[in-house]
Amino acid sequence: MKLKEQIQSWLEEVEAKTFSSADDVEQFRIDWLGRKGRMKDVMAAFKESPNEEKRELGKLINQFKQSIESRIAAGLAAGTSDAIEESAVHDWTRPDGGAPAGAHHPLSVVRREIIGILERMGFVVSEGPEIEDDWHVFSGLNFPEEHPARDMQDTFFVDRNPDMLLRTHTSSVQVREMARREPPMRIIMPGRVFRNEAISARAHCMFHQIEGLYVDKGVSFADLKQTLLRFAQEFFGADTKIRLRPSYFPFTEPSAEVDVYWGLETEVDKRITKGTGWLEILGCGMVDPAVLEAAGIDSREYAGFAFGMGVERITMLKYQIGDLRAFFESDLRFLRQFQGQY
Ligand code: DAH
Repeated sequence: MKLKEQIQSWLEEVEAKTFSSADDVEQFRIDWLGRKGRMKDVMAAFKESPNEEKRELGKLINQFKQSIESRIAAGLAAGTSDAIEESAVHDWTRPDGGAPAGAHHPLSVVRREIIGILERMGFVVSEGPEIEDDWHVFSGLNFPEEHPARDMQDTFFVDRNPDMLLRTHTSSVQVREMARREPPMRIIMPGRVFRNEAISARAHCMFHQIEGLYVDKGVSFADLKQTLLRFAQEFFGADTKIRLRPSYFPFTEPSAEVDVYWGLETEVDKRITKGTGWLEILGCGMVDPAVLEAAGIDSREYAGFAFGMGVERITMLKYQIGDLRAFFESDLRFLRQFQGQY
């Protein structure tokens, strides 16, 4: 028989295979994939086969191998050896072991939690494009022409069209929403952002932010502070303390950075808080009237506050993760730790 037909018939055999014990599964594994297993012969025959058939055969063999592996996984998932051995007659009413459960990615867990808290305060979720124009990322947010963020060193531009770029922050979505909606509006805008940074334990060229915006009559800095305090206490725990430090962003005035009190008990606390006990979690401020006006909102009638936070940063704080790269390496040993977290 030609190798192709041979594999096809084995494939049927493998797919129909049932196990009566874990030993049975193990024996099957050894028979096929063991050091002297039948897969060795298949590979030897593959080597000998004519070159023009190799492409198709290679694919078939891969599929075959996967099928063996998934039989083994299903066999192992079907229960412990004891459970299988207990009844020689198959009990069709018993639930099967199911596919092994996956875990939510830690960034998804945290994003969902942040969104949940803010939704309960009346914010609604909105999203905008990752490839943006200069207006929404910079000009509409009051960035001066010579601002360093507009530099190629910090921003990825689209070669064919210098007006287009990968958004460097989710504040761009504020500009879209303010132009599209009538106040009052209370919106959160999660998404991916991109910066031209060398990848290290503390920086990445792609990460996630969640932006918040509230525009209404009579919105004040006190509203901002209370919203953020409430958020921090829901997220980090009821006795969390925050402090606001004056800062600068082109699109807010006044602007602040918010720290949570982390503590100074251990050496690690001292190191990550640089000896202060405080850790920065987000940037915020009152929307600059020029930004409101640029989006067509009358700044004499309306005021707004905005804030933006990094999801990786907050996840690292919450779960004490020391290296940003862990989020993007898909290492199952890392990801499995989040099993059962929603
Ligand atoms: N866009 C800022 C950044 O990426 C974060 C930020 C600061 C967002 C202040 C805001 C804000 O909405 O008010 O660093």
